[in-house]
Amino acid sequence: MGIESSCDDTSAAVVTSDKNILSNETYTQLIQHQAYGGVVPEIAARAHLEQIQTVVEAAMLKAQMKYEDLDAVAATAGPGLIGGVIVGTMFAKGIALAHNLPYLAINHLEAHALTARLTHDVNFPYLLLLVSGGHCQFVIVHAPAEYTHLGSTIDDAVGEAFDKTGKLLGLGYPAGPQIEKLAKKGNEKRFSLPKPLHKQPHCNFSFSGLKTAARQLIQNEGPFEDQDLWDFCASFQKTISDILCDRTLQAFQMAREKEPKITALVTGGGVAANQYIRERLHGVTKDQHVPLFTPPIELCVDNGAMIAWAGVEHFRLGRQNSLDFMPRPRWPLEDIHYD
Ligand code: KG4
Ligand code: ZN
Repeated sequence: MGIESSCDDTSAAVVTSDKNILSNETYTQLIQHQAYGGVVPEIAARAHLEQIQTVVEAAMLKAQMKYEDLDAVAATAGPGLIGGVIVGTMFAKGIALAHNLPYLAINHLEAHALTARLTHDVNFPYLLLLVSGGHCQFVIVHAPAEYTHLGSTIDDAVGEAFDKTGKLLGLGYPAGPQIEKLAKKGNEKRFSLPKPLHKQPHCNFSFSGLKTAARQLIQNEGPFEDQDLWDFCASFQKTISDILCDRTLQAFQMAREKEPKITALVTGGGVAANQYIRERLHGVTKDQHVPLFTPPIELCVDNGAMIAWAGVEHFRLGRQNSLDFMPRPRWPLEDIHYD
């Protein structure tokens, strides 16, 4: 079983070691946060507490399992909003203790990093582009708990750039999916926006200059008619994709210097749900002669199945965690250790 509660989704899933997702039940708090234009940590923690039991029981019911049928219980132990992480962790530890099951403390980023192995036959080592609301980074995935960090954002995460710009456009939270939808009707060449760090010989990201330019453009050219809004969304999405493709090229170069046998590019995190971005990245991997693996949309956004799967990856290597494991608000991928 896997439990996810690090942001605004309470999710629980039962996944088998031969890659069957028996259940993946999610309660999303979207409506509770929408009025504030972003996730409010206090509200999130309370909502997790209210929903966790219902969600876990629903996952067990759907999987037609009893707790004693489980092999292990995994839960996100960080990084994330600590109130929610504590709720999921304590619930998982409770199940583990009551039913004498092994407990696994899962790093949320690692779960995104390994999801593609649940849905596709992906071999190590691969290059990972993790793009979500809180994270934006390139990592070489050598094995579970073995990661080499190559580059990350020096300011905002890419999902934040979508969400903050969407807020200025009056779109609801999260704005990423809305911008993708509106962009379909727009002309991506209409507005020219900056691409910070373009062609720089490293694979860090920066989105603050783009965000500022977008704000100024919206202020100067607004209020937008429908067609203006669609054109803006298309231009903004294209600029973000140009940035991601340019940075991915650099990342391939850096990754191959360290690990010549990179088998694939894998994407993870909510922004990887964007179909336009997927197609653009596919162009890059074709040139690099490796496949692109993108999990289905429902497994790109936060979900319990990815936590359960990360649990499987470690559990079959004979690993588990002590019930003393403390939840961590910050927890870089390189700091995952098992004895
Ligand atoms: O991984 P995730 O569900 O939560 C975090 O761990 O952050 O990612 C959420 C982020 C939000 O910023 C949301 O706007 C973005 O992913 N997102 C998208 C799309 N779907 C979700 N961004 C662009 N296009 C999408 N289709
Ligand atoms: Zn996430």
